[in-house]
Amino acid sequence: MSTDAGESARVPTEALRRRTFAVISHPDAGKSTLTEALALYAERIDQAGAVHGKAGRRGVTSDWMEMERKRGISITSAVLQFSYRDHVVNLLDTPGHGDFSEDTYRVLAAVDAAVMLLDAAKGLEPQTLKLFDVCRARGIPVLTFVNKWDRPGREALELLDEVEQTIGLRPMPLTWPLGIAGHLRGLIECATGEFSRFTRTAGGATRAAVEVVPAAEIAAAEPEFWSAAQDELALLTEIGAGFDEKAFLAGTATPVLFGAALTGVGVARLLDALVDLAPAPEARDDATGTPRPLQAPMSGLVFKVQAGMDRSHRDRMAFVRICSGRFERGMVLTHAGTGRPFATKYAQAVFGQQRTTVEEAFPGDIVGLVNAGALRPGDTLYAADPVEFPAIPSFAPEHFAAVRGADAGSFKQFRRGIDQLDSEGVIQVLVSDLRGDQAPVLAAVGPLQFEVVLDRLENEFRAPARLEHLDFTVARRTDQAGAELLHGQSDVEVLTRRSDGVLLAVFSTKWRLENIRRKFPDATLDPLPAGS
Ligand code: G4P
Repeated sequence: MSTDAGESARVPTEALRRRTFAVISHPDAGKSTLTEALALYAERIDQAGAVHGKAGRRGVTSDWMEMERKRGISITSAVLQFSYRDHVVNLLDTPGHGDFSEDTYRVLAAVDAAVMLLDAAKGLEPQTLKLFDVCRARGIPVLTFVNKWDRPGREALELLDEVEQTIGLRPMPLTWPLGIAGHLRGLIECATGEFSRFTRTAGGATRAAVEVVPAAEIAAAEPEFWSAAQDELALLTEIGAGFDEKAFLAGTATPVLFGAALTGVGVARLLDALVDLAPAPEARDDATGTPRPLQAPMSGLVFKVQAGMDRSHRDRMAFVRICSGRFERGMVLTHAGTGRPFATKYAQAVFGQQRTTVEEAFPGDIVGLVNAGALRPGDTLYAADPVEFPAIPSFAPEHFAAVRGADAGSFKQFRRGIDQLDSEGVIQVLVSDLRGDQAPVLAAVGPLQFEVVLDRLENEFRAPARLEHLDFTVARRTDQAGAELLHGQSDVEVLTRRSDGVLLAVFSTKWRLENIRRKFPDATLDPLPAGS
């Protein structure tokens, strides 16, 4: 472990250069396209498609799960790091599908800002709203990117109005589109009035060329669009929609940018906004509410654990967000939960599917630690000075199924698989004396999680399994006294969540829960954080 004062002195400067964020959106709004475009513009990859590998583009997508590709949904989260304008940008991908909102919640525990991506034709969609709620609950500042402006869509003012009315976030446009959606002529910089024209490139595979055009020239070329845009800009000035940094950082207002990820329009501007406006990592509160200074010895938060990311790396990786200090490969950290040492000889950076060895990292960076058998999402690792960050809450499950190995000969593999998936946080595993360990209950926020479990049990652990769906839909946190009161009631069962020992009372319906509540007013039945 390095205690070199010179190296540690770099921490504040390096932290200041970091921007760590995630994109939140509804499926199909263009998150993968935007992710590729951002990396492309930052020149980290030379051809769009290298990260997610959508059809028709050069792809090196992580192929560890066929299911993901077949369904066209993103279950695994890529972490991208690229440099831009002397800054280091860490972009954490979030699963788009609502069934994996628990994963997304964990990712959002590791970022300092979020980009809310809207489809110009659809505006705020259900999954965007849910994810935004998480950002709000965590106090994460949000920038908004209105995408697909190259296609017919809604009016810019109407979209801004929807953001303000629906989620109470005051929009502060930084750029304004010239031309209605589907007829984009370029972008006007709200603060200066400067106009930029973009030359379209096929499929966005290379950078869109940008050219600053004098106002008089574009006004003459596009008189109608120009005067409409000037009217709208005047209106924005009148209502005081200018950028207000304090409101942005407080999470009450959002800078808005327009563009088209597919053709690269507005993408570089978004990167500039991220670097200029999004906050750098700051001291993070520990579980007692005391901030851990950036300069304190190294500490990090595990926000994701994943195994079998691709066929050639059958290992288990924990993704750790560095919260303080300088991480150096090889340093021995302490696992806050158990007090056990954790060696970091195999620290890696993960870029899509590629991995490279990480020698050092600073607050805001994400490090992948392999052989992370002992680590769970929400765990803290630290060097020297003990710290523990607040636990990441588990969501209220709404789907329940008993799982049983289909093949009596592979019970050992079955049990190992269930243990593994439990500790990765893929699913919640509930047990009770009554049920025994042959058929634990799986609890999920969304039913797709079950498919992931079955798929991985079969393909990764060689333990095909069967599910028996259970008729429960509501879970409440209870205690031993509550468990005793509820014992023997129909349509109610009390189970122990294996990961944290929490007792969950599960009910067939909300009505049954209310009924029981009336019958046993003294029973503890506390709600869990809502996941969907
Ligand atoms: P997601 O990750 O949020 O689910 O969205 P993704 O990037 O996969 O984009 C969804 C669809 O929207 C894709 O089309 C993509 O090409 C398109 N798209 C994304 N950004 C833009 C944009 O700025 N303008 C236009 N016109 N389209 C955009 P697809 O046909 O479903 O897939 P693909 O075969 O083109 O990849």
